[in-house]
Amino acid sequence: MSAKSVLEADGKAILNYHLTRSPVIKKSTLPPPPHNSPPKLASLYFPEDVAPESVLDAAETTYPWLLAPGAKFVAKPDQLIKRRGKSGLLALNKTWEEAKQWVLERAGKPVKVETVTGTLRQFLVEPFVPHKQEEEYYVNIHSLREGDYILFTHEGGVDVGDVDAKAKKILIPVDLKEYPSNEEIAATLLPDVPKFVHNVLVDFINRLYAVYVDCQFTYLEINPLVVVPNADATSASVHFLDLAAKIDQTAEFECGAKWAIARGPAALGLSTAGSGGKVDIDAGPPLEFPAPFGRELSKEEAYIAALDAKTGASLKLTVLNADGRIWTLVAGGGASVVYADAIAAAGFGEELANYGEYSGAPTETQTYHYARTVIDLLLRAPAREEGKVLFIGGGIANFTNVASTFKGVIRALREVAPQLVDHKTKIWVRRAGPNYQEGLKNIKAAGDELKLDIKVYGPEMGVAEIVPVALLGAETKVKEYGEA
Ligand SMILES: *[C@@H]1O[C@H](CO)[C@@H](O)[C@H](O)[C@H]1NC(C)=O
Ligand SMILES: *[C@@H]1O[C@H](CO)[C@@H](O)[C@H](O)[C@H]1NC(C)=O
Repeated sequence: MSAKSVLEADGKAILNYHLTRSPVIKKSTLPPPPHNSPPKLASLYFPEDVAPESVLDAAETTYPWLLAPGAKFVAKPDQLIKRRGKSGLLALNKTWEEAKQWVLERAGKPVKVETVTGTLRQFLVEPFVPHKQEEEYYVNIHSLREGDYILFTHEGGVDVGDVDAKAKKILIPVDLKEYPSNEEIAATLLPDVPKFVHNVLVDFINRLYAVYVDCQFTYLEINPLVVVPNADATSASVHFLDLAAKIDQTAEFECGAKWAIARGPAALGLSTAGSGGKVDIDAGPPLEFPAPFGRELSKEEAYIAALDAKTGASLKLTVLNADGRIWTLVAGGGASVVYADAIAAAGFGEELANYGEYSGAPTETQTYHYARTVIDLLLRAPAREEGKVLFIGGGIANFTNVASTFKGVIRALREVAPQLVDHKTKIWVRRAGPNYQEGLKNIKAAGDELKLDIKVYGPEMGVAEIVPVALLGAETKVKEYGEA
C-alpha cells in the first residue's frame, strides 16, 4: 500500500460521484438517493509561463457558473496545505470579481506555511454555502491495523481543536460482516447531534464509508461537514466543504477507472467533445498524486502541465524515477493505469520511469511536444547494459485520431533515432482507434527506415499482454501488425 494525498478537488469529485454508487455495507437509513448533480469545482492551475489573468478568463468559459449573477464563492489553494484558514489562505463569501482578485494576488507567488515555502499554483474555487456555526461538523475516517476508525464531532470548523480528545469514535472491524448497525452508528457518533438529522447523517456516514472502501481511500477528513436543515427541520442537506484525503496509489489497477470516471468531463458537468458518457479504457484523466507542498514540479513536468493547461486535450506527465529504464507514451487514462500496473506486476515497478497519458484528441504538434519530452527524458536516463524500453500505446480511442497523433510521435522519433539506437531502446507499439491502421503502418515504416528496434501491434494484442511479452519475453500468438 502506498497512501498518497490527492487534490481536494479530486477527492470531492470522487465523493460526489461515488456517494450514490458505491455499495453500502449494510442497508442504510434512507432509500438510495438519486445521483448527485455534477459538483461545482473550478480547479485552476497557474503555470509559470502563462498570465494568471488568462487562466481566470479561461475558467469563465469552462465553468460558466462562476458568472452566475449574485453568486458567492470560496477560493483557496489546493496544494495539500493544512489549516489554510489559519494561514490566511481561505477566502469566503466572495463575489467572482473578489475571488479573482484574491487568487490573482497569490497565484504564482511563494508563500511560507509554517516552516515550508512553496509556490501557489493550484487553486480551487467553489460556491459558498452559507450556514451557521452550529451546523458545522467534523468527520474523519482512517485505517489502522485493527480496522477503520470513523471519528465524528459536532463542533467542526477552523477551530476544531484536539479532535482525538473530543471526537466520538467507532471502529469498523476488518471483517465487514461486523459493520455496525445504523442504531449503533447514531448512538456512538451522534449523541450531541439533533435527532432530526440522525437519519441523514447516518446515511451519509454509511455512504461515505462505502466510497472509502470502494475507492480505496486510506484517510479522509471533512472539516467542516455542513448539515443544513430544511425549512421545517425534518431533514437536512449535507455539504462537504473542506476535504483532505489519501488514496492507496497501488490500488490503481482495481480503482483507476473509478477514480478516472468521477473526474471525467461528463461527471464534472463540463462540455467537451467527450465520450458520450460511455466508460471505456480511454476514460481519463488518471488520478494525479501531487507533490507535497513546497516540492515544485520538474522542468519537464511543468512544461507538460503548461501544454495541458493551454488545450482542451489532456496531457499528463509524472516522472517517477528519472533513472528508470522503462518509459511509457500512452494515450488514455485507463490505458496508462493498465500499463503501469502490468509493468509493476511483471516485477519492474522500480524501473518504471514515468506515468502519464495524452488523450482528448491532442493535435499532431501537441503530441509531438509530449512525445519529445518523454523521449528526451528517456535519453537522459543513464544508458543501461540491458537497454531501455519505450511503450507506445493506448486502449481503443474513440476520439483521438491515431494516424494524426502518431505523426507527432513519428516526428519525435525521427529527430532522435540514432540516440535511441545508441541506448538500445526497444520500442513496443500497441494501439487501436480511429485510423489506427494508417498510424501503425506509418510508425512501422518509419521505425524500419530509422533502424529502430520496434514491434508494432494492433488491437489483437492486449494492453496487459504486451508488457510481459516485452519485459519477460513471454510467448504470444499475436502477430505483429501487417504480418500475415
Ligand atoms: C456574505 O457577505 C455579505 C456581504 O457581501 C453579507 O451580507 C452576508 O451576511 C455574508 N454571509 C455570510 C454567511 O457571512
Ligand atoms: C467507442 O468505440 C467502440 C469501438 O469502436 C464502440 O463500440 C463504442 O460504441 C464507442 N463509444 C462511443 C461513446 O462512441
